[in-house]
Amino acid sequence: MSTELIKVTINAKDFQVPKGSRLIDVCRENAFDIPSFCYYADLALQASCRMCLVRIEKMPKLQTSCTIICTDGMVVTTQSEEIEKAQRSMLEFLLANHPLDCPVCDRGGECELQELTFDWGNLEERFTEKKNYHPEKYLSPMVANDPQRCILCKRCTRVCDEWMGEDAIEAGNRGSNTVIGTYGGWLNCSECGNCIEVCPTGTLLDGTYRHQARPWELTQTISTCTYCSDGCQMSLGSRADELMRIVARDRYVNGLNGEFLCIKGRFGHPFVNHEKRLRTPLIRYQKGGKLIPATWDEAIRFAAQRLDAIAEANGRDSIAVIGSPRITNEALYSLKKFATEVVGTENYAIADAFSLTAFFDNLGGPLATHRDIRHAKTIVLIGGEPEELQPLTGKQIRQAVRNGGAKFILINSVRIRLREQASQFIHLRPGTEDAAVLALFNGDDDSLAAQKLGIDTNELETARKTIKETQGEVVIMFGAELSSKAQAVVAQLPYVFAGEGRRLLLHPLPLFNNSVGAHDMMDGDKSVFELLDGAGESIRAMYVAGSFLPMHMRQNEDALRRLDLLIVQELFETETVAFADVVFPAASFAEVDGTFTNNDALVQRVRKSIEPVHQSKPDWMITAQLAKELGIDFGFEMSASAVFREIAERIPFYANLRYPQLKDESKPVQVKHALAPQRDLSNEIDAIRSVVEGMDESSRKIEETPLVGHELFKLGTLTDKVPQFHLLAAGNPKPETFRISPLYQITIDGNLKREPAAAGGML
Ligand code: SF4
Ligand code: SF4
Ligand code: SF4
Ligand code: FES
Repeated sequence: MSTELIKVTINAKDFQVPKGSRLIDVCRENAFDIPSFCYYADLALQASCRMCLVRIEKMPKLQTSCTIICTDGMVVTTQSEEIEKAQRSMLEFLLANHPLDCPVCDRGGECELQELTFDWGNLEERFTEKKNYHPEKYLSPMVANDPQRCILCKRCTRVCDEWMGEDAIEAGNRGSNTVIGTYGGWLNCSECGNCIEVCPTGTLLDGTYRHQARPWELTQTISTCTYCSDGCQMSLGSRADELMRIVARDRYVNGLNGEFLCIKGRFGHPFVNHEKRLRTPLIRYQKGGKLIPATWDEAIRFAAQRLDAIAEANGRDSIAVIGSPRITNEALYSLKKFATEVVGTENYAIADAFSLTAFFDNLGGPLATHRDIRHAKTIVLIGGEPEELQPLTGKQIRQAVRNGGAKFILINSVRIRLREQASQFIHLRPGTEDAAVLALFNGDDDSLAAQKLGIDTNELETARKTIKETQGEVVIMFGAELSSKAQAVVAQLPYVFAGEGRRLLLHPLPLFNNSVGAHDMMDGDKSVFELLDGAGESIRAMYVAGSFLPMHMRQNEDALRRLDLLIVQELFETETVAFADVVFPAASFAEVDGTFTNNDALVQRVRKSIEPVHQSKPDWMITAQLAKELGIDFGFEMSASAVFREIAERIPFYANLRYPQLKDESKPVQVKHALAPQRDLSNEIDAIRSVVEGMDESSRKIEETPLVGHELFKLGTLTDKVPQFHLLAAGNPKPETFRISPLYQITIDGNLKREPAAAGGML
């Protein structure tokens, strides 16, 4: 938007507003309430509900403020008898087919239609004709539908198309028979539930929480998602000690994601109160024996004595400490403190899918926020699949292209769905991503790179030219495919492409909610693989918070068996817990206070929504108790904020931060990782070149586009506890009836009871 200011008069008050501002936004920003249903910021205009009417001087009729761009000297009235009469008539039309039974509607209490109707009061209903009747039904395991409550604002269809790129729902039929429906009667989409979130009425509903609680019974707690590295802000709705639902509804929370959440953030929470949560500490007194329930005192004492004995017999470096990228900064910081100050070893590592060390050590530019991505002029994505692994980033890319006109260069070996938005798609042979980085860095290796990538050298020149000609911000993103050497080169690309009027920003795409925080808190010289390799030899004991990933275990199947002592703190009996000698039940993200650092380097609060279930405790508290038993008092005094205060004192780029500064999720705080100067990368380039020279030129390119949900619907330790995810993982079979919960199709163990019904059929 322009920086030039113009004068607008609203209800006899003068305002200076940026040229190009939309009238409805200006009115709302200045506290003049404008009712609206179809308008939704940053979506294509619909202009169909006619609720946002205003009077503009010198214009003949009332105008819809959502369609008006302010002009200099405009004089506007937002409230008058004439305007209210027109709005009341519109509302009466909207209610013509709408049942007036809010008490039985699941959206009752947080419905925009109900709110407006009740706010105005005395609304006449002159339509006496029979209302159209449509039965309630399910559209998918996640989305329930009560079609007769629809006011056809089409927020849902626009969000599905513009945010998700899916176009899975559409308005069908005509005139007063129009309803929102699916193609083929059943949704085969990414099940994000954003259509539910933005629906202003009770038409699209959360099928997993339906009829379980009323909104006013829920305590809303603003927190940060525990799944991917995008760090969406969300409101956890709890009743007593049960987490009932998660929403991003803007009346409760106003974070970097607006009202966006993906399937995992919105529906993946039932693990919190799941019956399989670990209930008490457990001790295996003898190898090969059973894990026996114990008190906290017994388990802490047992673990401390065994650690002490192992350090005494084999030295301090025989103990390793492993942190998970899923737990809070406070938990990770405490673990590193435990390793270095209690055990006295540098044998600590993060059990993540890939390390960010080379990237941050060579960082040549600031990290891009999700807001930066939305407003970027050029976006380059090397590897990765954000629509499945970091869905908010995927949505921002889509909107940057569709609503902002950004150029999008996609460099990938797979025809991922975001390809539809790409202005240039460089389709690589699988495993050759490093060759693309080599070519981006300079033009010297174009022929070698193009030969190995299986593309024309022009494609590489075009990509570099697009970046070099950009005026504005360029965001460079990368996924898990790059080697650490290539990560170092990408981190220095801001120096390579710097130019007047151009700013280069970087956006790593790690997999977990606190991958960046884990790097900040616990980055060290050792890798998980190195420590697992030493298990049973130089490493005799391990203290693990969280679990190893399947990829770690696959390559070291026997490692944990070889240890003299394995201490694990976890939520569930994972594969790692199966080898443990001591198990501490840990509290989930919904039960603790703390912080996560997302892939924008935003430090965001995690807040306790319910008390820790059973006997579980926050990870940092368990570590502090174990340290105390070993003679070192961390001095955290039972408070996560005390841990964070120490983080701010010891980690330079977190300096001076305190929880109160992080309290407003609408103004997130970005930590500034130290920038590395431009450096000579010839060693890295030589190393990458020699790997590229050995790359196979005969491998076939992957032509298939991966199915929606192929990553999102995978059952992991947490999503395995959500019955609806089992249906999706089984291919989202279309049920024989849409009237009752689709869960009738699975057994209590999550297995399908029958063959899926054939596709096609009723709406
Ligand atoms: S759940 Fe998401 S992808 Fe599916 S129809 Fe709704 S908005 Fe579209
Ligand atoms: S289903 Fe909801 S969001 Fe979609 S058109 Fe109807 S009222 Fe609007
Ligand atoms: S995009 Fe990532 S952070 Fe946002 S809701 Fe989904 S999993 Fe959570
Ligand atoms: S909000 Fe303006 S016409 Fe619907």
